[in-house]
Amino acid sequence: VTAEKGGFEHFMLKEIHEQPKAYRDTMRGRIDEAGKHVVLPELKLSCEQIKNIRNIQIIACGTAYHAGLVGRHAIEQLVRIPVENDVASEYRYRSPIVTPETLVIVVSQSGETADTLAALREAQRNGAHVLAITNVVGSSIARDADDVIVTLAGPEIAVASTKAYTSQLIAFYLFALYLAEVRGSQTPEVISQVIAAMQALPEQLESMLAKPEAIKAYAEQISKHEHLFFIGRGLDYAVVQEGSLKLKEISYIHSEAYAAGELKHGTLALIEDGIPVIALATQDAVLEKTVSNIKEVGARGADIMAITHEEHVTGLLKSVNQVFAIPKTLPLLTPALSVVPLQLLSYYASLARGNDVDKPRNLAKSVTVE
Ligand code: G6P
Repeated sequence: VTAEKGGFEHFMLKEIHEQPKAYRDTMRGRIDEAGKHVVLPELKLSCEQIKNIRNIQIIACGTAYHAGLVGRHAIEQLVRIPVENDVASEYRYRSPIVTPETLVIVVSQSGETADTLAALREAQRNGAHVLAITNVVGSSIARDADDVIVTLAGPEIAVASTKAYTSQLIAFYLFALYLAEVRGSQTPEVISQVIAAMQALPEQLESMLAKPEAIKAYAEQISKHEHLFFIGRGLDYAVVQEGSLKLKEISYIHSEAYAAGELKHGTLALIEDGIPVIALATQDAVLEKTVSNIKEVGARGADIMAITHEEHVTGLLKSVNQVFAIPKTLPLLTPALSVVPLQLLSYYASLARGNDVDKPRNLAKSVTVE
């Protein structure tokens, strides 16, 4: 059994460690040799169609939905096309506005999620072109979609998704860069700068995975709590939503992820002495604002752990109890690194609680009922 887990104690830990490879595999062949262009020969979507896209809807469930939140940032920032995110089980029932100039992107590790498949069909019925980002080539979603970008994460066994999520982020970055080039929304310099930063991600991730001790110790600390909060702004908010889901799924600790600035509009009432708050503070443009939110919870007695870049560690230590540093990349690409300590945190918290990490109660890897 340990052989099929590659020497790791659980599939989840093995899959967390497979992420650098998953990044490389998902990028391979999709970036030209000079590192200047993204090439996606698998797409049927023509340049003409791409130039005509008026709006994009990203639809998925669970962790894949959270990847879509990052996808939205990437597309809106690089391509300036308006993007909406929907959970698949809600999409059909809100009479979404779809025109022939709408691109729908469905995201699904398994390619078999019933809600996502139903949303895909509804979008096609309404005339949208549907692109699937999936990890399984012959899946129902891959077969029904008009276009497919396959993530090359390899089979994911643990119910809690890790390498599939991060590979979906890579797929979104690639696709956004491709759209940006076709539509001329970014200069060639910006495109090659983002590509170069993407190519550095696998090694940066390897350096993070080599040092899990601090996160492990912190996980043991939070495993004794029943409630905690995650806060972040912008892309950090997108990532903490995934971090919070991961923690709930396998540690059964109740947590909520809040946009850092929204906490004061109600949820701040729940902050009391000793409650753990995990603040993701990697986005330089909003760092100062996040720090003031950190101070708000700190003043109410929260026990705060922050995840940030090396350069902000000393500054943040004035307002929080612990800081964990992650390597520096472009703000847009940070989720591909910042989610990893949160994955490890859930893993070690689940382990400390004696849970069945790979097969959490009540959950299934793939949900084929609506
Ligand atoms: C299930 C799994 C989740 C997953 C979601 C969507 O609920 O437990 O981990 O994120 O389905 O799965 P998909 O295969 O469509 O990405």
